[in-house]
Amino acid sequence: MDRTLKKDQRMTYETVLVEKKDGIATVRFNRPDKRNAMSPQLHKDMTKVLEDLRYDDEARVLVLAGVGKAFCAGMDLKQFFIELNDDRKEYDRILRLALEWRGRTLRFYPKPTIAMIHGFCFGGAFSIVEGCDLAISAEDTTFGLSEINFGMFPGGTVSKSMANLMRPRDALWYGMLGRTFDGKKAEQMGFINLAVPAAQLEAETMKVAAELVTKDPIALRCVKEAYRFSLEMPWDAAMALSGAKESEVAYLQNDAWKTGGIGDFLKGKYKPGLGGPGKS
Ligand code: ACO
Repeated sequence: MDRTLKKDQRMTYETVLVEKKDGIATVRFNRPDKRNAMSPQLHKDMTKVLEDLRYDDEARVLVLAGVGKAFCAGMDLKQFFIELNDDRKEYDRILRLALEWRGRTLRFYPKPTIAMIHGFCFGGAFSIVEGCDLAISAEDTTFGLSEINFGMFPGGTVSKSMANLMRPRDALWYGMLGRTFDGKKAEQMGFINLAVPAAQLEAETMKVAAELVTKDPIALRCVKEAYRFSLEMPWDAAMALSGAKESEVAYLQNDAWKTGGIGDFLKGKYKPGLGGPGKS
């Protein structure tokens, strides 16, 4: 991949690197010496990164990844659980940031998000994978709910992420045994979309990200919102939300999905069943 980027295409944070190119913002956890374990600073940085990219027109799709040998080794066990043990206010402040950016901000992010996973992915990192819309992993990634191995259960956002994304037998198997599984198994379980050989991970992920860049961003946001909110709504409320979203798309796009979208199909210009004409 071409890594020659102009200065304004790079954004620098203490523990996160952001590169923007062709509408794709690649957000890399950058604590390779600690296998990208999520330190208090990383939670502060990710809160800021997601806020900054939310309003950045150059970032139409986000890819979350890790620098070095790991995607993310979970919560920083030392800096969070041990060093903040006697500072309950700071512990609470960081915990709230940690829960918020993965559990709510990422899940309801107005732009598509893809987790690009390699190396190691443990514990709290499951909530990053679950909060992203799509997930692609190297076949040889090591995944694990390691909490039980140090006498804990998957706390914070992790149990909810397990409930949201894993089948009951898988969640309790891996949660209770603390055994690891690889990328191929993660794909079979439906925990990720796709496992590819490590050497192809970045190319395959960027191909998917580039495809998302061609889709209408307002419609993409509504795909997520209608789906994610519907999961937690009774049927009547979900129908009301759907109706409101339809009006929102029509208003924000000035009816483009009917005039250009359906209109071009009816004029024989393309077949939406087989792909889109591409929108920018
Ligand atoms: N928290 C804090 N430090 C960590 C973490 C972590 N989660 N994971 C790795 N590190 C640190 C190690 O302490 C070590 O630091 P040091 O060089 O200062 O001694 C460094 O990262 C490299 O770790 P190694 O263990 O030497 O690397 P290796 O590649 O051999 O193993 C592995 C990687 C398997 C990820 C291992 O470090 C490990 O088991 N980490 C803990 C994983 C875990 O249980 N995560 C927490 C899940 S629970 C939750 O998120 C709430």
